[in-house]
Amino acid sequence: MSQTDTTAAGAKSAQAAPSALEVKDPRTQRSYSVTMLERGTEGDEAIRASDLRQIKTADDDFGMMSYDPAFMNTASCKSAITFIDGDKGILRYRGYPIEQLAEKSTFLEVAYLLRHGELPTQDEYRSWVHDITFHTYVHENIAKFLTGFRHDAHPMAMLTSALAALSSFYPQAKDIFDPAQRYISIIRLLAKTPTIAAMIYRHMKGLPIVYPDNSLPYGENYLSMVARMSEPRYEANPAFAKALDVLLILHADHEQNCSTSAVRAVGSSHVDPFSAVAAGVAALYGPLHGGANEAVLRMIEQIGHPKNVPAFIEEVKGGKGSRLMGFGHRVYKSYDPRAKIVKQLADQVFAQVGMDKDLEIALKLEEAALNDEYFVSRKLYPNVDFYTGLIYRSMAFPTSYFTVLFAMGRMAGWLSQWEEMLLDKEQKIARPRQIYVGAPERQYVSQLTDYQPDTRKDSIRK
Ligand code: ACO
Repeated sequence: MSQTDTTAAGAKSAQAAPSALEVKDPRTQRSYSVTMLERGTEGDEAIRASDLRQIKTADDDFGMMSYDPAFMNTASCKSAITFIDGDKGILRYRGYPIEQLAEKSTFLEVAYLLRHGELPTQDEYRSWVHDITFHTYVHENIAKFLTGFRHDAHPMAMLTSALAALSSFYPQAKDIFDPAQRYISIIRLLAKTPTIAAMIYRHMKGLPIVYPDNSLPYGENYLSMVARMSEPRYEANPAFAKALDVLLILHADHEQNCSTSAVRAVGSSHVDPFSAVAAGVAALYGPLHGGANEAVLRMIEQIGHPKNVPAFIEEVKGGKGSRLMGFGHRVYKSYDPRAKIVKQLADQVFAQVGMDKDLEIALKLEEAALNDEYFVSRKLYPNVDFYTGLIYRSMAFPTSYFTVLFAMGRMAGWLSQWEEMLLDKEQKIARPRQIYVGAPERQYVSQLTDYQPDTRKDSIRK
C-alpha cells in the first residue's frame, strides 16, 4: 500500500494503480492506495488487512484494523482444496463437483484427492489404501482408556479425548516439518479414527470390542467393528456400506468452516496433528456445526407428529423456541448441494430398510419452511445435516453418535487443510487482534479485607 498526500499543502491526487483501492481518511485528508491481491481462481478479490495499518493519524498510532466478528468477511488463508459458491449451491473438491465424486468415487480416493490435489493413479491408490488398511489397529491402552468413560458419556467427548490421547502414543508426530512424519500421521488418523469410533460405539452399548478385519474395505471394516457379534466374518448390508461411503465423501471437506478453522488455528502453534484434529472434533461437537445432525433428530422427536409442524414453525419464527435445526448456513444461500444428494440417498436406504417413521415430519418441515416468507427472505434452506440423521438412525446408530460419523469423514479435510496451512509460507501462528472496550487503567483496592475462608464441612451446598 502506498500513501498519497492530499492535504492542503500536498494537493496531489491519489494515483491508484488499476489493481488498487483508493481509501481516503477524513481525519487526515490523506489518501491511500491499497493494492488488491491477485484474484482467486473463481474471481475472489481481497486486500491484505495488514495494509490498513498504514492508515494512521500519528506515527505512534497502531493503525487501522478491520473488525470482523465471526470472520464474516475475512479470508484467513489461500487454499486450493475446496471451492464453494454459496449463492449457486456449488461445492467442488480440488475442482471436481461433489455430485460426480459422490456418484463415482470412493471415500479413500477422495481423501487422497484432498491431500494430494490430484486423483490417484492405480498404483498410488493401491499403496494409499494399503497404508491406511494396515494402520487400523490402535494401542491396546486406547481401548483401556475408553473404558474409563461412563457408559453414557457423550461419544463426541470420548472421540475428542481419544484422539488427543493418541498424540501421546506418537511423540515423533511432533516433527511436523518432516514429510515422512506428516504422511504417517495422516495415514494413522485416517486409519484409526474409524477403529476408535467403533470402540466408542461398543462401549456405549456395553459390547466387547471388535478388532479391525483388514481384509474388508474401509467402510465395511468400520461397520464390522460396530456390528459384528458371533459370526466369523461380518457382511455389511451393501446399501448401508454405499450410503456410509457417500456420506463420508459429502462430509470430507468444506473449506474454512468452524472446525477446520479450529484445526488450522491450533495447528498454527506447530502442535502435533493429533492434538490439532482433537480441537476440530471439539468444534464439530457444537449444535450450530456438526452437532446439528443430532439436534435435528431431537427436534423431530420433540415435534412428534406431522400435524404439529405448523405450530413448531410459528414458534421458531417467533424466536420463542429453538432454531429450525438443519436449516441455514453461513455460506450457502441456496439449497446445500450435499443436502440434495443426502435426500436421494435417504430414499435409497429407506427403500431397503423401510420408511423412517419421522421422514414425514422432516418432509413437512422442509415444505413448510421453503414456502414461508421468514425462511425464504433469510435464504434459509436445508443443510447437509437435515436428512443425515434419518439415514444414520435407520442404520441403527444412536442419535448422540451421529456427529462421530461426520468427524470420520471430515478427518480427510482437516488433515489436508492442516498440511496446506503448514506448508503455506504466508501462515504464522493464528493470533487475531481485538478492540479493547474494557475499563481504562485503575488502581487495585481489595474488596476482601474481611474475607474468611468457608469452614463448613459438607462439600455439597444445600
Ligand atoms: N432457524 C430459524 N432462523 C434462522 C436459522 C434457523 N435454522 N438460521 C438462521 N436464522 C435466522 C436468524 O435468526 C437471523 O434472523 P434475523 O436476521 O431476523 O436476526 C438470520 O436467519 C441470519 O442468521 P445468522 O445466525 O446471522 O446466520 P449465521 O450465518 O451466523 O448462522 C447457522 C449460520 C449457524 C448455520 C444458522 O443458520 C443456524 O443456527 N442453523 C441451525 C443449526 C444448523 O443446522 N447448523 C448446521 C450448519 S451446517 C454444518 O455446520 C455442517
